[in-house]
Amino acid sequence: MNRDISHIRKDYIKDSLEIEKVDANPIKQFSKWFIDAESKGLLDYNAMVLSTVSNNKPSARVVLLKGLQEEGFVFYTNYNSRKGQELADNNNVALTFFWAEYERQVRVEGIVEKISAELSDKYFNSRPLDSRIGAIASPQSTVISSRDVLDEAVNNVKQSNDIKRPEYWGGYKVKPQVIEFWQGRANRLHDRLRYVKEDNWRIERLAP
Ligand SMILES: Cc1cc2nc3c(=O)[nH]c(=O)nc-3n(C[C@H](O)[C@H](O)[C@H](O)COP(=O)(O)O)c2cc1C
Repeated sequence: MNRDISHIRKDYIKDSLEIEKVDANPIKQFSKWFIDAESKGLLDYNAMVLSTVSNNKPSARVVLLKGLQEEGFVFYTNYNSRKGQELADNNNVALTFFWAEYERQVRVEGIVEKISAELSDKYFNSRPLDSRIGAIASPQSTVISSRDVLDEAVNNVKQSNDIKRPEYWGGYKVKPQVIEFWQGRANRLHDRLRYVKEDNWRIERLAP
């Protein structure tokens, strides 16, 4: 592809952010934006990019936000996956949300920890049967020789009739230390408010 795409641009005009008007608690501010995205029925509005660092090398992938609590952002995955191994190696992570229709981005930096087995069980058991089977059957992030390997693993799980959460699958919680809200503005002079966790949350404005 040798196309010139440098002309692609749009202006950002939908909203603004002021320290005086945002919630003093970033989780509550996040909830407001999340509800906005939800109420508009945005596609995959709970999708977030999870960035990890291992051996000084970053890697990133999309996962789904499945719980939002005062202490943190919860997602579920395979603990033996690449991300699981990277998180065991280094528990510093970043999350990035982007809601294009609102011209909004949220960046979270924090420390990840596994949630309790009870909570993982509860969520696992709430999933549709085929999703539970898939989670048990798939050795996430390992190289497989063909799709048949996966189909066979799924059949084996079905035949075993053992559909409880395996130890290698469960939730993580990202405990935030920094949360930045970005609202697109005209002429690239966007609003950026960063909350930094101290005794309370301190809010500061960043240049775009
Ligand atoms: C919209 C979307 C949602 C996803 N949600 C999850 C998720 O909640 N958990 C998960 O393990 N992978 C999810 N994935 C797949 C991951 O992006 C990734 O392929 C997988 O977790 C393996 O990543 P890893 O090899 O870095 O461990 C999702 C992908 C997309 C595009």
